[in-house]
Amino acid sequence: MGNTFGQLYRVTTFGESHGGGVGVVIDGCPPNIEVSEADIQSELNRRRPGQSKITTQRKEEDRCEILSGVFEGKTLGTPIAILVRNKDARPDDYVEVAEKFRPSHADFTYEAKYGIRNWQGGGRASARETVGRVAAGAVAKKILSMLYAEFEIVAYVTQIHEVIAKVDRSALKVKDIEKNVVRCPDTAAADKMVSLIEGVRGQGDSVGGVIECVIRGAPPGLGEPVFDKLEADLAKAMLSIPATKGFEIGSGFAATRMRGSQHNDPFEMRGGRVRATTNNSGGVQGGISNGEEIYFRVAFKPTATIGHEQKTVTSSHEQTQLAARGRHDPCVIPRAVPIVEAMAALVLCDHALRQRAIDGRSQ
Ligand SMILES: Cc1cc2nc3c(=O)[nH]c(=O)nc-3n(C[C@H](O)[C@H](O)[C@H](O)COP(=O)(O)O)c2cc1C
Repeated sequence: MGNTFGQLYRVTTFGESHGGGVGVVIDGCPPNIEVSEADIQSELNRRRPGQSKITTQRKEEDRCEILSGVFEGKTLGTPIAILVRNKDARPDDYVEVAEKFRPSHADFTYEAKYGIRNWQGGGRASARETVGRVAAGAVAKKILSMLYAEFEIVAYVTQIHEVIAKVDRSALKVKDIEKNVVRCPDTAAADKMVSLIEGVRGQGDSVGGVIECVIRGAPPGLGEPVFDKLEADLAKAMLSIPATKGFEIGSGFAATRMRGSQHNDPFEMRGGRVRATTNNSGGVQGGISNGEEIYFRVAFKPTATIGHEQKTVTSSHEQTQLAARGRHDPCVIPRAVPIVEAMAALVLCDHALRQRAIDGRSQ
C-alpha cells in the first residue's frame, strides 16, 4: 500500500498529523549496532517544527521513544519501533478545509482515492509523516558509518526562489550547514533567503527552492540493475518527500547542453584505485556507484497552504473561495534538509546490505 520503503533495510512509517502520533517500524536492521534515543533525537531536532522564525510555529518537541528492537544500547536484529507522540495539534484550524479542498495540497486527491480523509493538519499527507523517515535515517546512518569508515551525507540549501547560493560542495560538513536557520552554507545568500522567507510569510504567501545533497565514502558497487539502479532508487526516495517537484543527479539536465567529449568522466589510477578525473556522472554509472561523490539536487515547490484567497471547490462540488488559516511553513526547504539526508541514508543502507548479501568479499 505504499507505506513501506526498501528491500533489506525495510521501513514502514505510520501516523497522521493530528492523530495520536507518528513513527516507524524498521525491519532488517542488523544486530549489534549501537543506537540510542539521543542519536535519533538529534536528527529529529533538525526536522522539528517551531525550530526557528522561518518555520511553522507549531510547537512539537518530537521526543522519540524506542519501543522495541534495541536492548542495552544495541540493536537486536528484531523490528525496531520508534514512536513520536503528537502534542500540539489544533484541529480547529482546519475546520474550513474539511469542506474546501486546498489548491495543490492533497485534500482532493485523498478524498478521490479513499472517499474519506483525516482533514486535520493534512492527515497522512502532512510532513509529520517524515518524522518516521528521519528516525529510520538516523539508524541507517549508524549502520553506514560502521560499514564504511569515511561515509557521510551532507544536504544543504542552494536556492530559495530566485536567491541562488555559491557553494563549493567538496569540503562541506554538516556543521557548516547548521550555522544558519535556512541551512545554506553561503552566509550572504542565507541572509537574503531568510529576509525573503520572512517577507513572503508577511504577505500570506510561500516560496520553494532547491536542496543539494552529497554522499561521500560510498564504495564502488552499490546499486541493483536494472530496475533498482542507485539513481532510480534515489529519485524515488526524493520524489516521495512531500512538496518535491524535481530530481537531477550529477550534471542532470545540464548534460543536454554538453558534448560527450565534455561530459565524459575520464578514468585514471590514483592511490591504487580506479578514479574518475571529473564527476559529471554524480558518482553513479550504469545504476552502480563508482566510488566518487554521489551528488544530486531536489526541487521543492512553494508551500501549498497560503493566506491568499484562491478559487477552489467543496467536497460537495460547489464553487467557492479559500484563504487558508493555521500554522504553516512559508518555505518547506530548511526543514526538508534532514529529510533529504534521511532518505539518502535509507537508499544507501538498503543497497549496502544488498551488496553484502551478494558479495562475499565485503562480509
Ligand atoms: C518539511 C516540510 C514541511 C511542510 N509543511 C507544509 C505546510 O506547513 N503547509 C503545507 O501546505 N504543506 C507543507 N508541506 C508540503 C505538503 O505536505 C505537500 O505539499 C502535500 O502533502 C501535497 O503533496 P505534494 O506537494 O507532494 O503533491 C511540507 C513539506 C515538507 C517537506
